[in-house]
Formats: sequence, C-alpha cells, structure tokens
Amino acid sequence: MQGQNVQSALDENKLNDFVGQMLADLGGASSVAMVRTGDALGLYKTLHAQGPMTCAQLAKVSNVHERYLREWLSHQAASNYLAYDAKTAKFALPPEQALVFANEDSPVYMMGGFDVAAAMLENQPKVQEAFRSGAGVAWGEQGGCMFCAVARFFRPSYQNHLVRDWLPALGGAVEKLRRGAKVADVGCGHGWSTVLMAKAFPRSQFIGYDFHTGSIAQARAHAETHGVSANVRFEVGLAKDYSGTDFDLVTCFDCLHDMGDPAGAAAHIRRSLKPDGTWMIVEPMAGDSLEHNLNPVGRLYYAASTMICLPTSLSQEVGTGLGAQAGEARLREIILAGGFREVRRAAATPFNMVLEARS
Ligand SMILES: C[S@@+](CC[C@H](N)C(=O)[O-])C[C@H]1O[C@@H](n2cnc3c(N)ncnc32)[C@H](O)[C@@H]1O
Repeated sequence: MQGQNVQSALDENKLNDFVGQMLADLGGASSVAMVRTGDALGLYKTLHAQGPMTCAQLAKVSNVHERYLREWLSHQAASNYLAYDAKTAKFALPPEQALVFANEDSPVYMMGGFDVAAAMLENQPKVQEAFRSGAGVAWGEQGGCMFCAVARFFRPSYQNHLVRDWLPALGGAVEKLRRGAKVADVGCGHGWSTVLMAKAFPRSQFIGYDFHTGSIAQARAHAETHGVSANVRFEVGLAKDYSGTDFDLVTCFDCLHDMGDPAGAAAHIRRSLKPDGTWMIVEPMAGDSLEHNLNPVGRLYYAASTMICLPTSLSQEVGTGLGAQAGEARLREIILAGGFREVRRAAATPFNMVLEARS
C-alpha cells in the first residue's frame, strides 16, 4: 500500500533528471582512476607539449601499449577531457583542459583533487568504522598519501593568490615582509605555502610547524629543491605548543578546522605573536549555515570534511570537530576565544576565505 502511494507520487521527469545526474556523477567517479593513470603516465603533458596525435603516435612517444591507450583515449574523448578529430583520428588536449590537467601552475590545475578523491576512497574503511565508534582517524594513519594529495590540491591556489593577493590584503604585512619579518606557518604540511613566501621575501625568516613528521620531511626537501633553505626551516610541532616566539606574522593554511583544539591553537598563536603581529587564517570557503553550502564547492568540501578533516580533528585532544565548512561566524568565535580582539575577512576566492586576526 505504502509502495503504491510512493509509485503514484512519482514524477517521471524528476526521476529521469535524477538518473541523469547519477549517470554524470558515476561518470565523474569512474574518471578518477582514468585521469590519475593519464597523469602518472605523462599523457596529458605529452599531448600538451606535442599537440594533436593519433593513438599510435602517442603510444610510441609515451612508451605505452597501444591497445590500452586506445581505450583510455576513447574514454577521455567521451568525457570531453580530450578533443577527437574523426577525419585525422587525432586526439588533442584543448587549451582550457590543459589548464586543468597539464599546467601545474595554473589557478585551475585540479589533478590534486583527483588524488584527494582516490585517497578518500582508501580512507573509507577506517572512517566508516569511526562512524560507529565516534573515534577519530589520525592524520598520519589516513589512506594512500593523503598528505601528498592535499598538498597538491591546495598548491595552485597558494601559487596564484598567496603572494599576489592574500598577503597584500593584510594591513602592513607586505612592508614588514620586505624589510625582514619573522613568520611562522603553522600546520604547514608539505610546506608549499612556506616555500612560496620565503621565495618572495628573502629578507624574512620563516619557520614551518606541523605535527606530522613525514610532512615536515617533505617540506624540508621542497625547501632544498627550491633553494630557500637559507630563510626557511621546518620543525615538528603542535599548533598549541610550538616553540617559537615574537612572530610578526603567523599563517594557517587550510588547517585550523583540522585541529582538535583550534581555540587552544588560537591562544598559543596569539602568545607567540608580537603585540602588533598578525594572524592570517586561510580556510575553505563556506557560508554560515547548511543551506548556504548546498552547492558544488560545499558538496566537495563536505565529502573531504567527512573523510579527512573531521576524523583528523576528532583524533586529537578536545576533538572540537569544526569540519571544513565551519563558516566565518564559527571561525570568528574560535579566533576570539583565543584572545584576539579583531577579525576581518581580508580576501576570498571561490574555494577559500582569508581572515586577518589581531590582538
Ligand atoms: C589539510 S592539511 C593542510 C596542510 C598545508 N597547510 C596545506 O595547505 O597544504 C592540514 C595540516 O594540518 C596539520 N595539523 C592538524 N592538526 C594539527 C595540530 N594540532 N598541530 C599541528 N599541525 C596540525 C596536519 O598534519 C596537516 O599537515
């Protein structure tokens, strides 16, 4: 009887629309392995560098088996990731797609997003278990190379916005950095943000802190590769008790909401700053309530939050569990709880908000 009611209430157009949405979603999910294979084998970069090619030509220069490549290329063409010219049987990476798949410095380079999607899938058994227990999953115990995936995902934003837009949006920070300032990058992960700032401001000294030993090792290697070891060092440290003091600027990139005790971290950061120092907090873009986050960015961030950020926070002391979509009002409460007096939104992109806090 109940089933019949449901049947009679069905709107066939809505059903068709939703099945269409699911088809697109499953297509996207299936593309994760395909895109990462193309990335790992250098196929996008080769097409970008060498222009349109037939399957046989690309197979030869990429040193891959032609039969596998034909299947992969067909999928890419069906996905609108590559263009296919039936007359010449050539495949091309259009310039717009190249910005997403091949150009690592482009603001819309998204390969890190595919890596994060793969790592989230690897995290599923642990997080699923945590749904029952309520426990967390420590950052260092998460699936795949979550750290590498996250670092790669965020790097394009930092590369394109940090020095050009975000630091200049803070009151007086750039002048201090040019003269020579002392900066802590807390929760620095693989240290891309730290390295970018150190390159741009060679007179300033930067210390990157993170509680994950493996990430600090990677960050040190990046500093070495990019020739900034003279004004950067990386140390293992918790956000609420790292050792440095008298900072002109403390930065937190996409990590405050991951912390177990973000208010405790805020209080420690305030104590570690000079009285006129600035705390820059970069957090995922979000509105203050669920209905404001029911959009494609919110959808991605809620998934990442469930599989990565929330378990990370719940695995630590206090276990505040802010979640990646905490929103500015909640973040402001946390920052003020740490003893800061002023908080303002200094800058924003579709993916990030940049807050400036002062004592
Ligand atoms: C999402 S990642 C962001 C990393 C880096 N800032 C970036 O933008 O690529 C969050 C980082 O916060 C670090 N983290 C989480 N809780 C922490 C804590 N309580 N103290 C220090 N680092 C912490 C993790 O180890 C991880 O590197």
